[in-house]
Amino acid sequence: MKVIVCENAAAVGRVSADLVAADIKAKEGKYVLGLATGSTPLPLYGELIARHRAGELCFANVTSFNLDEYYPIAPNHDQSYYYFMWLNLFAHINICLRRTNVLNGLATDPKAECKAYEKRIKAEGGIDLQVLGIGGNGHIAFNEPGSGPKSRTRVVKLDEKTRKDNSRFFNNKIEDVPTHALSMGIGTIFEARKNILLATGGYKGEAIVSSVLEPPTPKVPASLLQDHPDVAFLIDTDCAKAFLAKTNDGKKLPKGVTLEIVQ
Ligand code: F6R
Repeated sequence: MKVIVCENAAAVGRVSADLVAADIKAKEGKYVLGLATGSTPLPLYGELIARHRAGELCFANVTSFNLDEYYPIAPNHDQSYYYFMWLNLFAHINICLRRTNVLNGLATDPKAECKAYEKRIKAEGGIDLQVLGIGGNGHIAFNEPGSGPKSRTRVVKLDEKTRKDNSRFFNNKIEDVPTHALSMGIGTIFEARKNILLATGGYKGEAIVSSVLEPPTPKVPASLLQDHPDVAFLIDTDCAKAFLAKTNDGKKLPKGVTLEIVQ
């Protein structure tokens, strides 16, 4: 596992865009990109859009799969993840909309929807690179604490902490935040060939400490990524404070963890 500390959220966006762009360019033919929503990946999406507009990055061969969607929610609801992706990425790049996949928040049979999503990922040859964020409680996608390493795409109940955190997008009304979601599982995420997890701000500092420095446990779902063969955590200096303090500025890192500071 690599931990890459960048100066600020904009730098996390630039460095993660470098990784995504290099990976897309390195693969001939079709490319499968896993996407996340939330505030953290916005600088990354801004960079990808800018590079596309500058003629440096083409998405014509890209198929995408999003991590999760609230349930129930209509795709045209202004807080649906489908709408988020359209607004913040898909409308601005040359990705073919038919090749963008977001779980259907209005599926009449949500279990069948999740099963079909797994099948679609497999049919596309699996995910080449998955972008992840992290919740204050260590969740990845909507795999809340307690989610097992073999979990697959499924209906999940959201933690009260997650609903409270996300109520900022629902006019601070927690009662408007859906109680459930459809989410890729940890097992699904683990099968991506590469994973990059982005975290910015001091609020995520403790979640990063438990995910990187403590033994993997379903209590902190992101910690289960420690066993992944190709995973990088890109964090900004605010988020890195607690981590750097615990590791004595990187001198006492667990085996298998490397630290890079990007100036
Ligand atoms: C969203 C997702 C979530 C978020 C996490 C952090 O698709 O998978 O796990 O990444 O809740 O959200 P932000 O970035 O808003 O702090």
